Amino acid sequence: MANVAIIGAQWGDEGKGKVVDWLASRADIVVRFQGGHNAGHTLVVGDTTYKLSLLPSGVVRGKLGIIGNGVVLDPDALFSEIDKVRAQGLDVGPHNLRVAENTPLILPLHPALDRAREAARGEDKIGTTGRGIGPAYEDKVGRRSIRVCDLAEPETLSAKLDELLLHHNSLLRGLGSPEFEKQPLLDALLALAPRLLPYAEAVWETLDAARIDGKRVLFEGAQAVMLDVDHGTYPYVTSSNTVAGNAAAGAGVGPNAIGTVLGIAKAYATRVGSGPFPSELFDETGKLLGERGHEFGTVTGRPRRCGWFDAAMVRQAVKIGGVNGLVLTKLDVLDGLPELQICVGYRVNGVAMKRLPAGMRAQAAAEPIFEVMQGWAGSTRGARSYAELPAEAVKYVRRIEELVEAPVMMLSTSPDRDDTIALRDPFAG
Ligand code: IMP
Repeated sequence: MANVAIIGAQWGDEGKGKVVDWLASRADIVVRFQGGHNAGHTLVVGDTTYKLSLLPSGVVRGKLGIIGNGVVLDPDALFSEIDKVRAQGLDVGPHNLRVAENTPLILPLHPALDRAREAARGEDKIGTTGRGIGPAYEDKVGRRSIRVCDLAEPETLSAKLDELLLHHNSLLRGLGSPEFEKQPLLDALLALAPRLLPYAEAVWETLDAARIDGKRVLFEGAQAVMLDVDHGTYPYVTSSNTVAGNAAAGAGVGPNAIGTVLGIAKAYATRVGSGPFPSELFDETGKLLGERGHEFGTVTGRPRRCGWFDAAMVRQAVKIGGVNGLVLTKLDVLDGLPELQICVGYRVNGVAMKRLPAGMRAQAAAEPIFEVMQGWAGSTRGARSYAELPAEAVKYVRRIEELVEAPVMMLSTSPDRDDTIALRDPFAG
């Protein structure tokens, strides 16, 4: 089975939307396997811009979209996104969108707890999206979650709400936040049942049938390796495993079904929220990258922190994420800069390191070791072959390949779907 998984190789917002859209047009099924509506993908198709955060990007291309059990699902967010894209002319319904029946739900008490915790952390806040992602994953691991399938069992819902409220109201009380009452939550869930249940199924069976039929599946990651709950810059991470390995558990397929793993990285680096960012720029160049790259969060609208490409970090993401090839985006944002820098390692308390250390203090102390490269005068915008790129731009890409120890399989040179230099069709294996 020639499947593809695509994951972020930095801190998210690498421009996955466009690449996922390009890949989705070659796939039969697109599966989300982790995260929730904290993700934000912008897809530009012709004159229409779609902003998706929960729907698998394939719905824009008329492909079957699957929300896997590894996702935490806010039903209100799902239906408002469905309404939004329907208003833009897309046909989305149970015929082309399936939701794993064992997917945990995000309820209103999850964002409430997320925000109350962030407020209590003050200066030390994680900078979450405030969407309740962390608390919803905690409930899943704590075996308290209300899952999609529970909507078909009113007695189960009632008993689970008692358990959930005991837990959440104790925490909310401790944080000085308003508590939740059971009845309105139960009423909302009972009202949701007839709307959501038609989408629910055992998606592992659907994916198994797809495997037998030789269908092409695209596993669409959200966030990125450096936000992975195990491998990222903990605790400044999201609450799921963002690496491609999680596509198996998060969708209900075997590890050999994942196929080729693409890691997506910007030609520079950005981050939203708090946490270490060794190659961050605080000067005019950082500001310029932000302006040219339109670096504002899709979900929260927050300005993104900008910096130089961190090859040491992307190399780490390549190794941990099992990345077979890189997709490099937004190369055009670097057009015209006289000089570029690439972070090739760190100095941590006087010691040179090729990887980011694991400790929180050590990560905060990591100073970048930069390699300087010459920029290019010409434009890379809209290029569709290497021959159209200035020689220095090709050198920059080649140097990145060497440093991260992975080939660049695709280059994106503008938001337009067709402005892509594809060196290999990843579905070809
Ligand atoms: P949470 O996922 O809302 O809990 O946020 C945890 C961290 O992940 C914060 O630093 C967020 O800014 C970051 N984050 C979550 N989703 C995304 C995303 O899609 N792109 C970039 N950063 C994200």
